[in-house]
Amino acid sequence: MECSRWLFLFSHFILLIFFHFSTENIYMPANSYEKPDYWSQKAFSEGYPARSVYKLKEIDEKFGMIKKNYTVLDLGAAPGSWTTFLLRKMEGSGKVVSCDLNPLSKSVKGDNLTFLQGDLNAPEIRNQIKALGPYDLVVCDAAPKTTGNRTVDTARSEQLVEMAVWYAQAMLKQGGNFAVKIFQNGDQQAILKSMREIFTSAKGFKPEACRSESFETYLVGINKK
Ligand SMILES: C[S@@+](CC[C@H](N)C(=O)[O-])C[C@H]1O[C@@H](n2cnc3c(N)ncnc32)[C@H](O)[C@@H]1O
Repeated sequence: MECSRWLFLFSHFILLIFFHFSTENIYMPANSYEKPDYWSQKAFSEGYPARSVYKLKEIDEKFGMIKKNYTVLDLGAAPGSWTTFLLRKMEGSGKVVSCDLNPLSKSVKGDNLTFLQGDLNAPEIRNQIKALGPYDLVVCDAAPKTTGNRTVDTARSEQLVEMAVWYAQAMLKQGGNFAVKIFQNGDQQAILKSMREIFTSAKGFKPEACRSESFETYLVGINKK
């Protein structure tokens, strides 16, 4: 009798341990990046290849940047959710020129889309982009491959931002607008200062759709002088 009581208690103890570890290991993601979040699921259901589309949507809602018949340059465009948003918003009018090191997702198509695969820093890409301009709007969501070292990642992001500012200065029409992603903690104030020389107004804007853990934000330049 005593023996069966101990056996009963022991089996319950084993079951408790099993359930504790199985729920922790199987059902709990190590961090929130592992499970598809609200924005990823929404993007998928609306036919966008990436959740980043909602950042551009918020920027456009706040600053009213995208208009029909525009010629738009999208830097760091793959897999192509910003490009898709631009094409949909312009409803077949105007022209979108997109550039990335990687190809766009196969679903991203448009008669008014030109895709250039290559490094936005490369002189031959610069020449091709210039030949297709000038532009009413330049957007840049380019991001370096992160290393986990925040100093290195921020410096690489800043280099891309400086290049995007160069494109805006060299290739935007007068009155044109600009939005660029930057990793925070970089020399954001110095970049905004240089943007104020090019645009009537320049400010930072962090869309709700940026992950709360993310240290990215956007700089927006309105009305090229
Ligand atoms: C966050 S993703 C862009 C997502 C895109 N806006 C979308 O909505 O699908 C950043 C992109 O920047 C690109 N990128 C990084 N450095 C680049 C460079 N030097 N030239 C061109 N593209 C670059 C990467 O290949 C990557 O596809």
